[in-house]
Amino acid sequence: MSDIVFITGATSGFGRAAARRFAQAGWSLVLAGRRLERLQALQEELKEQVPVHIAALDVRDAEAVRQVVAALPEGFRQVKALLNNAGLALAPEAAQKVALEDWHTMIDTNITGLVNVTHALLPTLIATGQGASIINIGSVAGHWPYPGGHVYGATKAFVQQFSYNLRCDLLGTGVRVTDIAPGLAETEFTLVRTKGDQAASDRLYRGTTPLVAEDIAEQIFHVASLPAHININRLEIMPVRQAWSAFAVDRDPQ
Ligand SMILES: NC(=O)c1ccc[n+]([C@@H]2O[C@H](COP(=O)([O-])OP(=O)(O)OC[C@H]3O[C@@H](n4cnc5c(N)ncnc54)[C@H](OP(=O)(O)O)[C@@H]3O)[C@@H](O)[C@H]2O)c1
Repeated sequence: MSDIVFITGATSGFGRAAARRFAQAGWSLVLAGRRLERLQALQEELKEQVPVHIAALDVRDAEAVRQVVAALPEGFRQVKALLNNAGLALAPEAAQKVALEDWHTMIDTNITGLVNVTHALLPTLIATGQGASIINIGSVAGHWPYPGGHVYGATKAFVQQFSYNLRCDLLGTGVRVTDIAPGLAETEFTLVRTKGDQAASDRLYRGTTPLVAEDIAEQIFHVASLPAHININRLEIMPVRQAWSAFAVDRDPQ
């Protein structure tokens, strides 16, 4: 039987590219996301290659997550890799200008959603044992502060620490845990962050060479297919044309 990967946020960006990468290697796919039409399109595209099961799912809904996992059909149950990828940033403005609701949406998706899916699949992953993986998509924003990062960066710091802590508890089970932390990558991420401002998204990526979804998908696949005794704890990936900047200092007017 082929290996099975469970991907959240498979309707766009890293998740969709990862689905294609795992399919290329013959893995069976469980694809989750809220936009059913996109899941159906991806299933249509990949089903000649590998078995594909889709589930319209909002990861924020713990009961819905539990039901999707409980209802996995025969052939999709013994998940070997969980890709916790569903997530978003909102409100690029300064913290003091942000609507509280946007903070809650990020916390509910990037933290609560991620723990919902992890909790529901842990027994399965432990039963899979040696070679099983939990791959959590964090961000450089979880490690490095920047203006407008506020709650988004903090949710990704959670992803890093949760990943490390899981490793401690899963010691002896064979289940690996990795925090993959991408930098600037062109997906629908900025379109979502700016609530649909395509021009703002284009501006951010114009004139540079950002990462693309396939770059991250390749790293995700690499981590999931390493020999069973290797655990990459954290993988931080930036485009060459991105780096840190100087500290900002508030000065008196001259
Ligand atoms: N692009 C970057 O620069 C970057 C850098 C570092 C980290 N990341 C992280 O990478 C991950 C993927 O982002 P991306 O860049 O690929 O952005 P994207 O193209 O906007 O994809 C985000 C995915 O998350 C899903 N999603 C969002 N809310 C969800 C919810 N409540 N329930 C289920 N699925 C949900 C979306 O699916 P539906 O809308 O169909 O539900 C979509 O498939 C995120 O965790 C993001 O924080 C991105």
